[in-house]
Amino acid sequence: MVRYIFPKYEIELDIPEEVYFPEEDTFFILNSIEILEDYRFLLEIGGGSGIISIVLANRNPKLRCLITDISLSSAKAISKNSRLNHLENQIDVVCMDKMQALKQLCPDIIVWNPPYLPSDEETELFSMEDKKMLIGGKKGYEEVYELFKYLKQNSIKTSFYTLFSSLAWSKDELHEMKDKGFSVQIIDEINMFFEKLYLVKSELSDTDA
Ligand SMILES: C[S@@+](CC[C@H](N)C(=O)[O-])C[C@H]1O[C@@H](n2cnc3c(N)ncnc32)[C@H](O)[C@@H]1O
Repeated sequence: MVRYIFPKYEIELDIPEEVYFPEEDTFFILNSIEILEDYRFLLEIGGGSGIISIVLANRNPKLRCLITDISLSSAKAISKNSRLNHLENQIDVVCMDKMQALKQLCPDIIVWNPPYLPSDEETELFSMEDKKMLIGGKKGYEEVYELFKYLKQNSIKTSFYTLFSSLAWSKDELHEMKDKGFSVQIIDEINMFFEKLYLVKSELSDTDA
Protein backbone atom coordinates (compact mmCIF):
# COMPACT_ATOMS: atom_id res chain seq x y z
CA MET A 1 0.00 0.00 0.00
CA VAL A 2 1.36 3.40 -0.97
CA ARG A 3 0.22 6.81 0.25
CA TYR A 4 -0.25 9.38 -2.52
CA ILE A 5 -0.58 13.13 -2.13
CA PHE A 6 -2.81 15.08 -4.53
CA PRO A 7 -1.67 18.69 -3.95
CA LYS A 8 -4.20 20.22 -6.37
CA TYR A 9 -7.05 18.79 -4.29
CA GLU A 10 -5.28 19.05 -0.90
CA ILE A 11 -5.94 15.44 -0.02
CA GLU A 12 -3.93 12.25 0.51
CA LEU A 13 -5.01 8.71 -0.23
CA ASP A 14 -3.82 5.20 0.56
CA ILE A 15 -4.48 3.18 -2.59
CA PRO A 16 -3.96 -0.59 -2.57
CA GLU A 17 -2.91 -2.22 -5.82
CA GLU A 18 -6.33 -3.82 -6.41
CA VAL A 19 -8.19 -0.48 -6.10
CA TYR A 20 -8.70 1.85 -9.09
CA PHE A 21 -5.97 4.47 -9.19
CA PRO A 22 -7.47 7.90 -10.07
CA GLU A 23 -7.02 8.53 -13.77
CA GLU A 24 -7.91 11.23 -16.29
CA ASP A 25 -11.56 10.15 -16.18
CA THR A 26 -11.62 10.77 -12.42
CA PHE A 27 -10.12 14.25 -12.82
CA PHE A 28 -12.41 15.02 -15.75
CA ILE A 29 -15.43 14.43 -13.48
CA LEU A 30 -13.90 16.42 -10.64
CA ASN A 31 -13.17 19.36 -12.90
CA SER A 32 -16.55 19.38 -14.63
CA ILE A 33 -19.12 18.54 -12.00
CA GLU A 34 -21.11 21.26 -10.32
CA ILE A 35 -22.25 20.89 -6.72
CA LEU A 36 -25.06 23.36 -6.11
CA GLU A 37 -25.14 25.36 -2.88
CA ASP A 38 -28.32 23.64 -1.69
CA TYR A 39 -27.14 20.08 -2.33
CA ARG A 40 -26.97 18.18 0.96
CA PHE A 41 -26.76 14.51 -0.02
CA LEU A 42 -24.56 12.95 -2.68
CA LEU A 43 -24.59 9.28 -3.59
CA GLU A 44 -21.45 8.09 -5.32
CA ILE A 45 -21.47 4.69 -6.93
CA GLY A 46 -18.19 2.85 -7.52
CA GLY A 47 -16.10 5.12 -5.30
CA GLY A 48 -12.78 3.26 -5.85
CA SER A 49 -10.29 5.06 -3.60
CA GLY A 50 -13.02 7.54 -2.56
CA ILE A 51 -11.32 10.45 -4.29
CA ILE A 52 -14.38 12.02 -5.94
CA SER A 53 -16.51 12.22 -2.79
CA ILE A 54 -13.51 13.10 -0.63
CA VAL A 55 -12.68 16.10 -2.82
CA LEU A 56 -16.32 17.18 -3.10
CA ALA A 57 -16.96 16.79 0.66
CA ASN A 58 -13.78 18.72 1.39
CA ARG A 59 -14.91 21.57 -0.86
CA ASN A 60 -18.51 21.53 0.45
CA PRO A 61 -18.64 21.11 4.24
CA LYS A 62 -22.46 20.85 4.27
CA LEU A 63 -22.43 17.94 1.84
CA ARG A 64 -23.01 14.39 3.17
CA CYS A 65 -21.86 11.53 0.95
CA LEU A 66 -22.76 7.89 0.77
CA ILE A 67 -20.36 5.86 -1.36
CA THR A 68 -20.99 2.35 -2.64
CA ASP A 69 -18.55 0.01 -4.33
CA ILE A 70 -18.94 -3.61 -5.33
CA SER A 71 -15.32 -4.29 -4.38
CA LEU A 72 -14.65 -4.94 -0.69
CA SER A 73 -11.06 -3.69 -1.06
CA SER A 74 -12.41 -0.40 -2.43
CA ALA A 75 -14.98 -0.08 0.36
CA LYS A 76 -12.20 -0.60 2.94
CA ALA A 77 -9.94 1.93 1.19
CA ILE A 78 -12.73 4.52 1.04
CA SER A 79 -13.41 4.13 4.75
CA LYS A 80 -9.71 4.52 5.55
CA ASN A 81 -9.23 7.46 3.19
CA SER A 82 -12.24 9.30 4.62
CA ARG A 83 -10.65 9.09 8.07
CA LEU A 84 -7.23 10.03 6.68
CA ASN A 85 -8.73 13.28 5.37
CA HIS A 86 -10.83 13.88 8.53
CA LEU A 87 -14.09 13.50 6.61
CA GLU A 88 -15.52 10.46 8.44
CA ASN A 89 -18.44 12.59 9.69
CA GLN A 90 -19.37 13.52 6.12
CA ILE A 91 -18.78 10.21 4.35
CA ASP A 92 -20.33 6.75 4.78
CA VAL A 93 -19.44 3.73 2.71
CA VAL A 94 -21.15 0.47 1.91
CA CYS A 95 -20.03 -2.47 -0.18
CA MET A 96 -22.89 -3.14 -2.59
CA ASP A 97 -23.89 -3.45 -6.21
CA LYS A 98 -24.75 0.04 -7.47
CA MET A 99 -27.55 1.23 -5.12
CA GLN A 100 -29.45 -2.05 -5.04
CA ALA A 101 -30.58 -1.86 -1.39
CA LEU A 102 -31.31 1.85 -1.47
CA LYS A 103 -34.48 2.22 -3.48
CA GLN A 104 -36.12 4.51 -0.90
CA LEU A 105 -33.23 6.93 -1.18
CA CYS A 106 -33.47 10.18 -3.10
CA PRO A 107 -30.10 11.93 -3.06
CA ASP A 108 -29.69 15.41 -4.55
CA ILE A 109 -27.11 14.02 -6.94
CA ILE A 110 -25.73 10.65 -8.00
CA VAL A 111 -22.24 10.36 -9.50
CA TRP A 112 -20.67 7.30 -11.06
CA ASN A 113 -17.37 6.98 -12.87
CA PRO A 114 -18.34 3.51 -14.06
CA PRO A 115 -16.52 0.69 -15.76
CA TYR A 116 -17.21 1.76 -19.36
CA LEU A 117 -15.15 -0.42 -21.70
CA PRO A 118 -16.60 -3.25 -23.81
CA SER A 119 -15.45 -6.79 -23.18
CA ASP A 120 -13.56 -8.72 -25.83
CA GLU A 121 -11.28 -11.74 -26.03
CA GLU A 122 -8.39 -9.78 -24.55
CA THR A 123 -10.35 -8.40 -21.58
CA GLU A 124 -11.61 -11.91 -20.78
CA LEU A 125 -8.07 -12.53 -19.51
CA PHE A 126 -8.22 -9.64 -17.03
CA SER A 127 -8.37 -10.38 -13.30
CA MET A 128 -11.80 -10.20 -11.65
CA GLU A 129 -10.83 -6.92 -9.91
CA ASP A 130 -9.70 -5.33 -13.19
CA LYS A 131 -12.92 -6.39 -14.89
CA LYS A 132 -14.98 -4.74 -12.13
CA MET A 133 -13.00 -1.53 -12.53
CA LEU A 134 -12.96 -1.34 -16.32
CA ILE A 135 -15.49 -3.50 -18.13
CA GLY A 136 -19.09 -2.32 -18.33
CA GLY A 137 -20.43 -5.34 -20.22
CA LYS A 138 -20.35 -6.75 -23.74
CA LYS A 139 -21.20 -3.36 -25.24
CA GLY A 140 -19.48 -1.40 -22.45
CA TYR A 141 -22.44 0.50 -21.06
CA GLU A 142 -24.77 -2.23 -19.77
CA GLU A 143 -23.83 -1.61 -16.11
CA VAL A 144 -24.86 2.05 -16.37
CA TYR A 145 -28.01 1.22 -18.29
CA GLU A 146 -29.01 -1.16 -15.50
CA LEU A 147 -28.85 1.78 -13.15
CA PHE A 148 -31.08 3.85 -15.47
CA LYS A 149 -33.58 1.00 -15.35
CA TYR A 150 -33.41 0.90 -11.55
CA LEU A 151 -33.91 4.67 -11.26
CA LYS A 152 -36.95 4.41 -13.46
CA GLN A 153 -38.43 1.36 -11.74
CA ASN A 154 -38.13 3.06 -8.37
CA SER A 155 -39.09 6.58 -9.57
CA ILE A 156 -35.83 8.06 -8.29
CA LYS A 157 -35.76 11.54 -9.74
CA THR A 158 -32.25 12.80 -9.20
CA SER A 159 -29.48 14.37 -11.26
CA PHE A 160 -27.29 11.47 -12.31
CA TYR A 161 -23.82 12.17 -13.70
CA THR A 162 -21.91 9.44 -15.46
CA LEU A 163 -19.31 8.83 -18.16
CA PHE A 164 -19.46 7.12 -21.52
CA SER A 165 -16.55 6.29 -23.81
CA SER A 166 -16.62 6.72 -27.58
CA LEU A 167 -15.12 3.23 -27.75
CA ALA A 168 -18.47 1.85 -26.61
CA TRP A 169 -21.12 4.51 -26.98
CA SER A 170 -22.22 7.15 -29.47
CA LYS A 171 -24.27 10.33 -29.13
CA ASP A 172 -27.11 8.59 -31.03
CA GLU A 173 -27.81 6.75 -27.80
CA LEU A 174 -29.10 10.01 -26.29
CA HIS A 175 -32.35 9.59 -28.25
CA GLU A 176 -32.87 6.15 -26.81
CA MET A 177 -32.34 7.45 -23.29
CA LYS A 178 -34.85 10.23 -23.94
CA ASP A 179 -37.32 7.65 -25.24
CA LYS A 180 -36.86 5.75 -21.98
CA GLY A 181 -38.05 8.81 -20.06
CA PHE A 182 -34.85 10.64 -19.13
CA SER A 183 -33.85 14.19 -19.88
CA VAL A 184 -30.20 13.91 -20.89
CA GLN A 185 -27.42 16.27 -21.86
CA ILE A 186 -23.71 15.98 -22.50
CA ILE A 187 -22.25 18.54 -20.16
CA ASP A 188 -18.60 18.09 -21.08
CA GLU A 189 -16.34 16.01 -23.29
CA ILE A 190 -12.64 15.37 -23.41
CA ASN A 191 -10.36 13.87 -26.04
CA MET A 192 -8.06 11.24 -24.67
CA PHE A 193 -5.28 9.40 -26.46
CA PHE A 194 -7.50 6.84 -28.20
CA GLU A 195 -11.06 7.70 -27.16
CA LYS A 196 -13.39 10.52 -26.27
CA LEU A 197 -15.12 10.66 -22.89
CA TYR A 198 -18.57 12.19 -22.44
CA LEU A 199 -19.86 13.40 -19.09
CA VAL A 200 -23.62 12.94 -19.25
CA LYS A 201 -26.15 14.44 -16.86
CA SER A 202 -29.56 12.82 -16.80
CA GLU A 203 -32.75 12.95 -14.79
CA LEU A 204 -35.97 11.00 -14.93
CA SER A 205 -38.51 13.31 -16.53
CA ASP A 206 -41.50 14.47 -14.45
CA THR A 207 -43.98 12.53 -16.50
CA ASP A 208 -42.09 9.30 -15.81
CA ALA A 209 -41.36 9.81 -12.11
C1 LIG B 1 -13.47 3.39 -13.13
S1 LIG B 1 -13.47 2.96 -11.41
C2 LIG B 1 -13.77 4.56 -10.67
C3 LIG B 1 -13.21 4.69 -9.27
C4 LIG B 1 -13.26 6.10 -8.68
N1 LIG B 1 -14.62 6.58 -8.57
C5 LIG B 1 -12.46 7.06 -9.52
O1 LIG B 1 -13.07 7.81 -10.31
O2 LIG B 1 -11.22 7.09 -9.39
C6 LIG B 1 -15.05 2.12 -11.29
C7 LIG B 1 -15.41 1.68 -9.87
O3 LIG B 1 -16.74 1.13 -9.91
C8 LIG B 1 -16.78 -0.03 -9.11
N2 LIG B 1 -17.89 -0.84 -9.59
C9 LIG B 1 -17.95 -1.59 -10.72
N3 LIG B 1 -19.16 -2.16 -10.86
C10 LIG B 1 -19.88 -1.76 -9.78
C11 LIG B 1 -21.21 -2.01 -9.35
N4 LIG B 1 -22.03 -2.80 -10.04
N5 LIG B 1 -21.62 -1.44 -8.19
C12 LIG B 1 -20.78 -0.65 -7.46
N6 LIG B 1 -19.50 -0.38 -7.82
C13 LIG B 1 -19.07 -0.92 -8.97
C14 LIG B 1 -15.41 -0.65 -9.28
O4 LIG B 1 -15.11 -1.56 -8.23
C15 LIG B 1 -14.52 0.59 -9.30
O5 LIG B 1 -14.11 0.95 -8.00
